[in-house]
Amino acid sequence: MNHSFFSRKKFISKVFQTSAIFSLSPVLGKLYAYGKEESLMFRQDPFLYAESLGLKKTLEKIILTATLSPNSHNTQPWKIKIESDSSFLLYGDENRTLPAIDPINRQFYHTQGTYLGLAKLAAAAQGYDSKISLFPKGIPSTKQMNVLPVARFQISPRKQQTQDPLFSFLPKRQMNRSEYSGDWITEDESKELESLTSPSSIQLKFILGEDRIQPYLPFLINSFAMETNLKAQNEVTRVWFRKESEDVYSKRDGLSLEGNGISGLKAWVAKKFFLDLSYEGWHSEASKNASIDLFKSQAKSSKGLVFFITKGNDDAKEWIQTGMDFMRFTLAAAGKDLAFHTMNQALEDYPESSVFYNEIKSKLGLQKKERIQLLGRLGRSDYHYESPRRDLKEILI
Ligand SMILES: Cc1cc2nc3c(=O)[nH]c(=O)nc-3n(C[C@H](O)[C@H](O)[C@H](O)COP(=O)(O)O)c2cc1C
Repeated sequence: MNHSFFSRKKFISKVFQTSAIFSLSPVLGKLYAYGKEESLMFRQDPFLYAESLGLKKTLEKIILTATLSPNSHNTQPWKIKIESDSSFLLYGDENRTLPAIDPINRQFYHTQGTYLGLAKLAAAAQGYDSKISLFPKGIPSTKQMNVLPVARFQISPRKQQTQDPLFSFLPKRQMNRSEYSGDWITEDESKELESLTSPSSIQLKFILGEDRIQPYLPFLINSFAMETNLKAQNEVTRVWFRKESEDVYSKRDGLSLEGNGISGLKAWVAKKFFLDLSYEGWHSEASKNASIDLFKSQAKSSKGLVFFITKGNDDAKEWIQTGMDFMRFTLAAAGKDLAFHTMNQALEDYPESSVFYNEIKSKLGLQKKERIQLLGRLGRSDYHYESPRRDLKEILI
């Protein structure tokens, strides 16, 4: 992925110009509101971007940076209460759960874990150790989410110098849903990914080589088609889909065509003639088939598959720990210039999905106690799209 077109020098000068304009006039400032370029600047150098927003404190920089973590449907379901200059409480946002596809909040808690995982790496990059205490007041029900925190996150100046290159790969990390091309992922690459990730809670299982990958594709494709044909589940994507640029960069969350690997003329044509976000349009046969066809081409271009497996209590704590390791894996893939796309329709906790889950689990030869938390495809692609993140004021409480 080539990001060199956006140099640091240009970024700094842009930051300077932007802050100058902001201070000159709130009206002019509106012209420079969050857009594609800011989204890129944020990823390119999150700490510098934080400073450009006036966030000077280390903890504030960490809190903002961690929003760049991968998260289910780009819902960004986090609420943060700053306790002091060295600690914050992370809460789940009850208004950003996805009950139709995630009825037991598995992916919701994975997403709390990705946030904490990236916050930890961001703290280390700022020279701080971090202490994460999960559920300091107990595990909340959905209704208790705004009173019982997911975690307390505390930083203290780092005692020992440790080397973890993962944070430096953040500018290149994204969920890459484009069609992949090039060579198959090799055994050596999978070992490097594992070593860079250095997971603490999950086991990584790679499926490599065309002959071994092929038999898994029908599970991925058929589960996606199944989900697309279920009204309540397909509705989740409609609600979180942002079509026009203005929508993408004003709401600053959710999914988009560009995030699905479609840009330029193709995206323009799709938006003008096909993509219909009305209830009837979205659930029409034509629209569902287009979405399934797109998914097919994505899945069929997989150059490797990876499964994230746990062997514990399969509870909220384990889901958070999974998310923390998953965060590391996505950075490791970015560091190796590999494209990665997690696709979980076969792993979800509603009855129609569990049929696929059981088939995949048995195909992988897993033991009863083992649980596939997430899965994804790997490959090679130059496509990039920097999905937006919301303003910190939307997240702070
Ligand atoms: C727990 C979890 C589950 C996800 N499931 C899917 C999925 O099934 N399909 C998909 O295309 N993306 C999935 N994603 C990716 C998110 O949609 C993506 O991270 C989000 O849109 C933000 O984009 P970014 O990662 O490029 O910053 C998942 C991410 C997480 C953390």
